[in-house]
Amino acid sequence: MLSQQTIAVIKSTVPALEVHGEAITRHFYQTMFAAHPELLNIFNHANQKQGRQQAALANMVYVAALHIDNLAAIIPAVRQVAHKHRSLGIVPEQYAIVGTYLLQAIKDVLGDAATDEILTAWGDAYQVIADAFIGIEQDMYKKAANQTGGWDGFRNFKVAKKVQESEVITSFYLMPEDGKPIASYQPGQYISIRIQPDGQDFTQIRQYTLSDAPDKPYYRISVKRELGGSDRPGGLISNYLHDHIAEGSLIELSAPAGDFTLDTEVARPVVLVSGGVGLTPMISMLNTLIESNDRRSITFLHASPNGISHAFRDHVNQLSQEHSNLKAYYCYTAPVDSDLENKLVYKQGYMDAAWLRQVIQELDANYYLCGSVAFMRSVYTELLLTGVAEDRIHYEFFGPKASLAAASENV
Ligand SMILES: Cc1cc2nc3c(=O)[nH]c(=O)nc-3n(C[C@H](O)[C@H](O)[C@H](O)COP(=O)(O)OP(=O)(O)OC[C@H]3O[C@@H](n4cnc5c(N)ncnc54)[C@H](O)[C@@H]3O)c2cc1C
Ligand code: HEM
Repeated sequence: MLSQQTIAVIKSTVPALEVHGEAITRHFYQTMFAAHPELLNIFNHANQKQGRQQAALANMVYVAALHIDNLAAIIPAVRQVAHKHRSLGIVPEQYAIVGTYLLQAIKDVLGDAATDEILTAWGDAYQVIADAFIGIEQDMYKKAANQTGGWDGFRNFKVAKKVQESEVITSFYLMPEDGKPIASYQPGQYISIRIQPDGQDFTQIRQYTLSDAPDKPYYRISVKRELGGSDRPGGLISNYLHDHIAEGSLIELSAPAGDFTLDTEVARPVVLVSGGVGLTPMISMLNTLIESNDRRSITFLHASPNGISHAFRDHVNQLSQEHSNLKAYYCYTAPVDSDLENKLVYKQGYMDAAWLRQVIQELDANYYLCGSVAFMRSVYTELLLTGVAEDRIHYEFFGPKASLAAASENV
């Protein structure tokens, strides 16, 4: 247990550390990777370059430090990160490495202001926070390995089938090389894949949501090709998967993880809202509800530039013809002629509160939201304007997590 004195020191220094947060985390990563280049095998280099991961890890340490005398308050946030850590294969020994370089960075950046008392207090607090993560992750490792069809770490899967779903999205059907059973999962969960493309010095790990209902002989992921632009390179792994991973190729996978999952306990209507490739968890949730003959009302709302980039449209249309409890509506920002001729567009432009009010049949529903950060920020606000209760909106980021809540502590 930390002493009251230590807790007081931590709480009084969090604001100062936050002010220097960026400098501390930049220094932390630089020195840690210089001493432990093997960690570059697990960190996402693109997230590093854009500073997204730095902010996520450091913010969480500060938020945890603020709640140091009541860590129970942030356990849900810790669990979410722990899912990601488990999926990446983070081990307890690595917490000691992170702790050493974080503390050193605090010392180097704050200089004389970092007294021995402050450094000792932060060392003790980091250990308490790290122990909370390690404990939760150890439980998750055990569950992942001991479940039926489960496994520890990464397992070889063969690409059984590769299907183009739209101009930019391709599905990969993955079956275990060992031919043994594979673990079930909850719709909305993701797997991590580990790949070392030719010419890369380090392995690359990326998360992909399982895009079909569970309990099939395969896992399906549906990947968008990240094309890049004048200001940024194309995505490393999504392009590699499209261009170099063929039927018969092997990929390493860790067992399903994640806490963005469909709540089937309550029989409330469900509204699935996605933008672009953010529809993968929605397709998994939709297929699960339909295949289990769940009769609740399901509203499927999807935003895409047009029908060319829109994946799974025929599939969802077919299901909505066969199941009267499913209604699907699409918003296209740049519809092409065939979209307009076939009257497949229900709205041109963005999803807004006025339109949401028209298409959502029962406001008292569970909402699941996924898409780009900009899409999610916008739709979240519009849903609130529509009258949806904030705690009914569940969401997933396809990158380092953030919060959409208005008065957020960024947990
Ligand atoms: C829980 C979760 C679920 C996910 N599910 C899916 C899914 O179902 N389908 C899917 O397609 N994706 C999904 N993703 C996203 C996926 O994990 C990858 O992030 C995505 O495929 C991009 O990876 P990449 O290697 O192609 O791009 P990266 O090389 O990682 O680059 C990512 C982005 O950063 C940009 N970038 C790279 N370097 C720089 C630089 N120096 N400066 C500026 N910009 C740069 C790239 O242009 C690209 O847009 C999910 C992510 C998470 C966290
Ligand atoms: C108490 C210590 C730690 C805290 C508070 C912490 C916090 C976080 C947070 C908030 C995220 C973002 C989660 C998300 O993407 O949704 C994250 C991701 C990650 N963490 Fe940790 N972490 C800690 C320890 C570690 C350790 C010890 C390692 C291994 C050396 C590690 C490696 C990673 C990696 C590789 C990612 C994903 C990064 C990416 O792909 O961009 N973390 N962590």
